[in-house]
Amino acid sequence: MKIGIIGSGYVGLVTGVCFAHLGNEVLCVDNDLKKIALLKKGISPIYEPGLEEMIRSNLQKGQIHFSSHIDDAVKKCEVLFICVNTPPKDRGEADLSFVENVAREIATRLRQYRLIVEKSTVPVQTGERIYQTICEMKAKTTLFDVASNPEFLREGSAIHDFLNPDRIILGVSTPKAEKILRKLYEPLMAKIVVTDLKSAELIKHASNSFLATKISFVNALARICDASGANIDMVTEGMGLDPRIGASFLRPGIGFGGFCFPKDLMAFLRISEKMGIPFNLLREVLDINEDQKRFFVKKIENHLWNLRDKTLGVLGLSFKPNTDDIRFAPSLDIIGELLKEGVKIQAYDPKASGHFKKQFKDIRYVKNPYEAAKHADALVILTEWDEFKTLDMKRIKKIMKHAIVFDGRNIFDPVLMKRSGFQYFSIGR
Ligand code: UGA
Repeated sequence: MKIGIIGSGYVGLVTGVCFAHLGNEVLCVDNDLKKIALLKKGISPIYEPGLEEMIRSNLQKGQIHFSSHIDDAVKKCEVLFICVNTPPKDRGEADLSFVENVAREIATRLRQYRLIVEKSTVPVQTGERIYQTICEMKAKTTLFDVASNPEFLREGSAIHDFLNPDRIILGVSTPKAEKILRKLYEPLMAKIVVTDLKSAELIKHASNSFLATKISFVNALARICDASGANIDMVTEGMGLDPRIGASFLRPGIGFGGFCFPKDLMAFLRISEKMGIPFNLLREVLDINEDQKRFFVKKIENHLWNLRDKTLGVLGLSFKPNTDDIRFAPSLDIIGELLKEGVKIQAYDPKASGHFKKQFKDIRYVKNPYEAAKHADALVILTEWDEFKTLDMKRIKKIMKHAIVFDGRNIFDPVLMKRSGFQYFSIGR
């Protein structure tokens, strides 16, 4: 099939590359000229394992193309995926102006049937608005359908997740739209759930909200473990064996970040408030998430006493491993708080230092974990990159001023760390 991707950000690029990989001819559009110029050369503007290699191989095979003109996509492609940004406005509401602009741009160019698919995360009823907007622009209703096909990929494993989905949600309003999308996804041989448009939109917000609720639940529980002397690993193991609860997404830490959970929860809360049925549980989930970062900073303060002029080695800045993304990363707030207290920070991240540098200039960015640990009063782990799990801890102990580790991601075994002579503080154990 000929597929147009409007908006070549995280979701758009991964979607486009994966559809190309499945044998479709894909045209990715973006109004950022610099980004398109890079992509045409086979350079990915974001770090995501495997993405750049797939862009290059599909460029070579002629399966993927890049353009800054939406015209090309509407003219050539039967299926158009809207993958533009839906950033949060001041009060957390999703800004849908980019989505509306794309709908208008498509409407003015409609000459033959096009299936317009929302892929960006949008509030319930957005599809209906897109449909009305296109109708108001005098497009014939036989010339288009609007569908919702939310994406569930995770950063860091995006390509694997796209190609191996747990389920594919097709929110459609006509049999024709369903037929086209079923054919497109056929090669993945995945479980397909067909719904109406609004239910598909809600599935996305509900799924992210539920996952974030699990994380805040386990983080609040970890604080109770800390205060009472219980062990969160044992508690979650005991809980997770009940299949109704499940063991996944119960890792305690320093709170969830990234451009999905915080933004989507705020947007969902705002929609529910607008409908007059405020989903207050989500407000609490967000509050616990904020508290969790302060709880971690307090833990550091409690043990180091005065922070002024102390040197902290920080390992990890991205909001999770295998990405250079720092949007809403807990590291931003935690490091911001620590700097306010007058600490000196020497930080290492395998991929995210470049982005972090733009916001925090008063940090020494170093080239490896050992440089971060050198002469440090304590080591602070903020992201669970694999390379941190296999560090030579004997060497780390030797080069630190004091052998103290604050592990915000529970990557080490507390017993082994103590045996190796570290004062080791983790979350909930
Ligand atoms: C999330 C969802 O998992 C995807 O299904 C969804 O498609 C995506 O948002 C989106 O809406 O686009 P992502 O934000 O990439 O994906 O990353 P996750 O792996 O879900 O992690 C989110 C945050 O939760 C990270 O900060 C992570 O450290 C934290 N987390 C996750 C925990 O603290 N504990 C856990 O047990 C799991």
